[in-house]
Amino acid sequence: MKELAINNGPRAIEGTLPSFRDASGRTFGEEETRHLREVMETGRLSFLTGPKTSEFERRWAEMYGVETAVAVANGTAALHVAVTYLNPDPADEIILSPITDVGTVIPILYQLAIPVFADVDPKTQNIDPASIERNITPRTKAIIVTHVYGHPADMDAIMAIARKHGLSVIEDCAQAHLAYYKGRLCGTIGDVGCFSFQQSKHMTTGDGGMVITNGDGRFGRNLRHCSDKGWPRERGGRDHLFLATNYHMTELQAAVGLGQLGKLKRFVDARITSADRLTELLAGVPVTPVLPAEGTVGVYFFYSFRVDPATLTVSVPEMMKALTAEGIDGFIGYPGPIPLYRYPLIREHRTFGNSGWPFTLDGARRDDFASALCPEAERACRETVCMWWTDRFEDRHVEQIAAAIEKVMTAYARA
Ligand SMILES: Cc1ncc(COP(=O)(O)O)c(C=O)c1O
Repeated sequence: MKELAINNGPRAIEGTLPSFRDASGRTFGEEETRHLREVMETGRLSFLTGPKTSEFERRWAEMYGVETAVAVANGTAALHVAVTYLNPDPADEIILSPITDVGTVIPILYQLAIPVFADVDPKTQNIDPASIERNITPRTKAIIVTHVYGHPADMDAIMAIARKHGLSVIEDCAQAHLAYYKGRLCGTIGDVGCFSFQQSKHMTTGDGGMVITNGDGRFGRNLRHCSDKGWPRERGGRDHLFLATNYHMTELQAAVGLGQLGKLKRFVDARITSADRLTELLAGVPVTPVLPAEGTVGVYFFYSFRVDPATLTVSVPEMMKALTAEGIDGFIGYPGPIPLYRYPLIREHRTFGNSGWPFTLDGARRDDFASALCPEAERACRETVCMWWTDRFEDRHVEQIAAAIEKVMTAYARA
């Protein structure tokens, strides 16, 4: 057996893998450049005067088969627009998974609603419908469902619970571009779908986001007004109907988005093909890949796999160090080795001055975020390796990734 790279042996991965961080793992071409040049040459950098943002929204709406798409500055903004659209009262509760980006919880806090963390299904690491139901109270207003790693959550069960209790559903599809749940596009099943085009996503505009819905206005607000200062510009003149911030996407972002959009299907398919190949290659290795559930098409934002610490002679962080030394680009646990509620923002209520709002509002639910609120999520964060994935992986990359994992798992296997 070859010596581990961490012990100065040869690396399993030669050179560096293609990465979302630069052109090695991102694909830009003449399309993006042409749109960008048009923006610059016309001098129209804002959606107020230029056509690109509207065109990007129209094409996204068409691709998703929805009535309304609003392009915004980033994925967190998309989720903030969605929560503003639902207009919770202060101390209303919104249920979410603790295995998600902090951008899922920030909008809840800014709207003074209380985040309530439901546990996850240990197999998919998506929010567990049974845990959602256990956490519903008379103050529950909505559920935000993150399709984590790009793999669809159990939407039939979640929508049935939402309907039974009169709750709204926001789908966080930041990692799930063109993911399908039982033949339906994720983002079109709940009331609102939110996307991110941040640098690492399936397609990117650097930063960027999109919010989609059918039946705009159903909740008494217009979706676009929620990203535009509560301003019904379409009526002409100046009026501000309610509190909402400015989350406009620029024409520069939209120009890149229009170029990327035409390639999105190809990007997603390439991620799936290379991920499927890795799953095949890992068949004999004692790791458990986190795979899309039956009846769904998952789109591999990360490629994640679970390890059983009891089978290792070293800790999971030490094993991760060895994987990194072999050339793997990854980390333990998402959003990190601890679930979202254990970060100081939530656990210590570091929000508005010293107020602790919304957690300290009268009548607000009081969860102890220092406790193991969601045991399955705690375990998943400790035992899951997430690897950055890109559409630019070729067979040779995937074979080297598999070899690196096999090498490390073999070296550290408990006899
Ligand atoms: C699941 C999830 N939700 C929300 C976000 C927030 O998106 P952004 O980083 O574009 O604000 C991200 C991206 O980082 C994400 O992966």
